[in-house]
Amino acid sequence: PYPTYRRMRETDPVHDHPFGLWMVTRYEDAVTVLRSKLSVEEKLVNAGMLREQYDAIDADTGAGTILSLSMLDRDPPDHTRLRSLVAKVFTPRSVGALEPQVAELVDEGLDRIAADGGGDLVESLAFPLPFEVISRMLGLPPTDHLRIRELSGWLVRSLEPVPDDETLARVIAAGDELAEIARDLIAYKREHPGDDLLTAMIAAEEDGDRLSDDELVAQLVLLYVAGHETTVNLVANGTVALLRNPDQLALLRERPELAANAVEEFLRYDSPVQQTRRVTTAPFELGGKVIPEGSFVSVVLASANRDEAFWGPDADRLRIDRDNARQHVSFGSGVHHCLGAALARLEGRVAFERLVTRFPGLAPGGEVRWNGRINLRGPAELPITV
Ligand code: HEM
Repeated sequence: PYPTYRRMRETDPVHDHPFGLWMVTRYEDAVTVLRSKLSVEEKLVNAGMLREQYDAIDADTGAGTILSLSMLDRDPPDHTRLRSLVAKVFTPRSVGALEPQVAELVDEGLDRIAADGGGDLVESLAFPLPFEVISRMLGLPPTDHLRIRELSGWLVRSLEPVPDDETLARVIAAGDELAEIARDLIAYKREHPGDDLLTAMIAAEEDGDRLSDDELVAQLVLLYVAGHETTVNLVANGTVALLRNPDQLALLRERPELAANAVEEFLRYDSPVQQTRRVTTAPFELGGKVIPEGSFVSVVLASANRDEAFWGPDADRLRIDRDNARQHVSFGSGVHHCLGAALARLEGRVAFERLVTRFPGLAPGGEVRWNGRINLRGPAELPITV
């Protein structure tokens, strides 16, 4: 996508796309939109294909609940209320305490790779690591992981800029089934409370006015899905970037203490979430254009992360020791700034530190197969040899 993003930044950085969305591709504009008071509530979109798609998702169904009641889809004050219920578990300090568990899970993944002399990095490490971490934080009982993985793979296609009708039908079916699974998990947890995030959310719900039943379902699914569908791409895209830039792989192997900064550079270089969205509630002026009220605005984070006007002439180069890599917008910005950022950073740092030091012979093991998504873009299969 990067040559297309570059062309858009150069020729039409605030682009009125015929599908009924405005694409914002420059760094400064992206930050302006993210920090603005634009809404995240898609029900306010009043025109275009996205309006039709929003109407197709019946608000009373499981999918409607999940896709409209999570904190990601709510404006203040509801957003503030929902986010504050879980925020303290995700601070860098709370998350830091998980490092030994994360290291153990990384090592289990690396053991699988060692046993096979390589194999598919997505299957052995990039997927199981974040999936297991968020499952444990939520305190989920053993469930049908494969089914949940398949369903969440469909649900996140709702984040594609314009899903086609067949995809949309599958998104809705997956949302309905996930909502049912979530209700079962909540019922189980009510019977078996623990020292975990889901128990804490249930306590807030039982308290009465802090969280409704449907909101609880929506937050559970959001945390579960956001907890792994993104970090999988950080680990896999970062590995692809290293394999395609052997000088940077050699540098990281020589100086594993660069791993934390390398993670910031991987996030910048190949953003696990390529775009996020906002809705205008009044005409909004940007880059010399006026975006009308009720428009859907796609903020192309991955393009902002490569904008030469901000990063300089080597924006397209991977440099794991880049000084300001942390200024990427891969986690968004403003009130919806990724709640799981500290957790994703921890998982990424520990994974890369250990991957490069344990396997000095890390090399490509075949063609990468991509997941076919525009937004949550990453490898479906990443063959390596060690
Ligand atoms: C929100 C990216 C990992 C939970 C977001 C947003 C982005 C993002 C772009 C939306 C920002 C906006 O629209 O302004 C990422 C990336 C990750 C990652 C790139 C991994 C590399 C995680 C993890 C969790 C998580 C591990 C764990 C639970 C959330 C939640 C929100 C969010 C709950 C909604 C926050 C809100 O609306 O206030 N993330 N995320 N994310 N993320 Fe992440």
